[in-house]
Amino acid sequence: MPKPLQTLFALSIVILITTCYADNNSSNTSSTTTLCAPSHCGNISIHYPFWLRSQHTEFCGYPDFGLECSEGKAIINLPSDTYYVTDINYETHSITLVDIDILNQQCPRARHNVSLTNNIPLSFSSLDLNLSFYFNCSSKYPSSSVDPIGCWKISGDNRESYVFVAGDEGDLGSDDLHCEEHVVVTVKDDEIDIGGGGLINGFGDAMKKGFVLDWRRAADCAQCEVSGGYCGYDQNTKQSTCICGNGSVVAKSCTKGTLSFTCLKVFRLFFYFLQS
Ligand SMILES: *[C@@H]1O[C@H](CO)[C@@H](O)[C@H](O)[C@H]1NC(C)=O
Ligand SMILES: *[C@@H]1O[C@H](CO)[C@@H](O)[C@H](O)[C@H]1NC(C)=O
Ligand SMILES: *[C@@H]1O[C@H](CO)[C@@H](O)[C@H](O)[C@H]1NC(C)=O
Ligand SMILES: *[C@@H]1O[C@H](CO)[C@@H](O)[C@H](O)[C@H]1NC(C)=O
Ligand SMILES: *[C@@H]1O[C@H](CO)[C@@H](O)[C@H](O)[C@H]1NC(C)=O
Repeated sequence: MPKPLQTLFALSIVILITTCYADNNSSNTSSTTTLCAPSHCGNISIHYPFWLRSQHTEFCGYPDFGLECSEGKAIINLPSDTYYVTDINYETHSITLVDIDILNQQCPRARHNVSLTNNIPLSFSSLDLNLSFYFNCSSKYPSSSVDPIGCWKISGDNRESYVFVAGDEGDLGSDDLHCEEHVVVTVKDDEIDIGGGGLINGFGDAMKKGFVLDWRRAADCAQCEVSGGYCGYDQNTKQSTCICGNGSVVAKSCTKGTLSFTCLKVFRLFFYFLQS
């Protein structure tokens, strides 16, 4: 290669790199970036795909993952109930939830089964264990090896309440025991010491430690996240949107058009020089 052409070659590489680089990073301090800036509630750090209802908009994360912050405690609303969020682990993609109702109860009485509907991208973790509670049963459990829960005993009322690790209650259920209610509560497996009466004495503390849910990529968001964007929800169109690194909002994916127009023009010029 003759010397002038060599210089031109090197120059065009520099131009190519700077143009394309600058193009992809332009306006990265745009309003969406500041609007969705990471926040926190108490000691919980809140950022994508979670967002803080008082500060962010549904634009900033998954619609179901909007948290409230009350007196330094993060709160999430699930279809079944409202829970404190005591931990968000962005590496393992998991959250720890505690039933708000039971936190101040000495002998916690869960009112709801946790139900996760399919359209919420949350699922039970492998760290969990289900406890099966039977409340106010008018029949006694036939085996003497199963003790009723003492702290719910009302004097003068013959009915008893029982707790089992879900699946361990034998063939008996609320029908046979004639119980008022059956509620399944999820706790962390390692918080329950099942042997030696640990379950009856320990379920209250275990419930206060909460349970773990894993989150997965929302179906609508896969294309966007894979392309490096942040997936939000647009109240107006009622559809998910994709916020790209340059701050612009696209429908699905940031990949298309990553090599922007100016960048492409320089590319073409570059190859034109190579050929000549
Ligand atoms: C945050 O603080 C609460 C109690 O104030 C504690 O139970 C929880 O484990 C803490 N979470 C983290 C992530 O440090
Ligand atoms: C606990 O119960 C829920 C809801 O029925 C279920 O989806 C989950 O797999 C159960 N977890 C365990 C550890 O059995
Ligand atoms: C059992 O029933 C009584 C009233 O009949 C109620 O006050 C009590 O809370 C019930 N116990 C449980 C554990 O649900
Ligand atoms: C909770 O789930 C169990 C079965 O998993 C069911 O038998 C029970 O009726 C449910 N309880 C409530 C209060 O919905
Ligand atoms: C930002 O990137 C997207 C996708 O890569 C592109 O469609 C859009 O034109 C870019 N906007 C700006 C202002 O560079």
